[in-house]
Amino acid sequence: MFEDFKTAKIDHRPMQVAVGNAHETVISRDDFAASFAEITAWSGYAPTPLYALTDLAKSLNLGDILYKDEGPRFGLGSFKALGGSYAGLRILQRELSKRLGNAVTLVDIRKGVYADDVAKITLASATDGNHGRSLAWGAGRFGAPCQIYIHRDVSEGRAQAMRDLGATVTRVDGDYDASVDDVRRDADANGWFIVSDTSWQGYTQPPTDVMAGYGVMVNEIEQELDTPPSHVFLQGGVGGLAAGVVAGLRQHWGDKAPRVVVVEPELAACLFESAKAGVATNVVIEEETLMAGLSCGEPSPLAWNILRENAQDFLTIPESTVAPAMRLAGRPIGNDPSIIAGESAVAGLAAVIAGASQDDLRAKLGLNEMSRVLLIGSEGATDVEIYEQLMAD
Ligand SMILES: Cc1ncc(COP(=O)(O)O)c(C=O)c1O
Repeated sequence: MFEDFKTAKIDHRPMQVAVGNAHETVISRDDFAASFAEITAWSGYAPTPLYALTDLAKSLNLGDILYKDEGPRFGLGSFKALGGSYAGLRILQRELSKRLGNAVTLVDIRKGVYADDVAKITLASATDGNHGRSLAWGAGRFGAPCQIYIHRDVSEGRAQAMRDLGATVTRVDGDYDASVDDVRRDADANGWFIVSDTSWQGYTQPPTDVMAGYGVMVNEIEQELDTPPSHVFLQGGVGGLAAGVVAGLRQHWGDKAPRVVVVEPELAACLFESAKAGVATNVVIEEETLMAGLSCGEPSPLAWNILRENAQDFLTIPESTVAPAMRLAGRPIGNDPSIIAGESAVAGLAAVIAGASQDDLRAKLGLNEMSRVLLIGSEGATDVEIYEQLMAD
């Protein structure tokens, strides 16, 4: 059992964490409380399941594996439903308040009180799929036009999902960075508002709101667990997911918060390289990873500020582990639940199986029969065709 994982080449980089308070200051407790109050009031809200993969854990000689399945989130297929939509709504709030000269509430925007004004505010973003889908959905719900830019490798299935939600989708002949450049240029020219999940100099509020939205997952987890897990394995793209979750866990459990292991595809390991360099570092993506949501060459500086103080371990995983991990989730061991897990969802799962079954790595990560490992299954089958192909291979 686990042959694909026992022999997989996993790179590990331990990091001496910096001392600081970024988990309280980058996203404040008030930010998390506000996003939770708003998002849980949206129609269709329901907490996503937290599954115990106890039989898998037993066969790996671990205490337990807890898998938060974000596939059902608002019917959109991924945890990203919590981020772009919420950050888009907050942009509408700030812009309407400015234009109308009074403090506009989120509830009133949601109720359609300002429908005519909202229709004049265009929200825009570059995306490789899930973030854009969240924004398109939120913009549609709140009545704002939405412009989405995608790069040449985004699957047509993912593009169509965003068109179906009412977005105008522009495909750029280039990579992700080219789509970011193009949307920024066109947003400047047309007065659109960019809703990005990554930060840059002078642009921090929307990515903070995106990460605050991810805090809803943490809140739900904390309500279900009496004691903190020992480890959390978090997959990284720009780092927003990991940073949002880590800040929430640390605010709740303080020094008893789980040990943080960040996992990336070896083809897009910008956080791993940042850990090596001790400073946020970009990498060039030469080949696209199957884990489309993790195909990011540039860390979000805001997210890095949180991770550098909280993430003790960074791992890269090879492509060969992705489909086996998806199949293990879908066709589980013993009585574990069957879970539909997409390509980017299983990075943490693949890493924990490899980590637990390779002796050297197991020791380095401090994994043992008492370990309770938390995973965020960040997406379901967000592209059904790709999902079925990988499950069948
Ligand atoms: C399914 C999925 N998982 C994980 C991530 C990584 O999130 P982040 O880029 O915030 O690190 C993404 C990003 O798009 C994603 O779509």
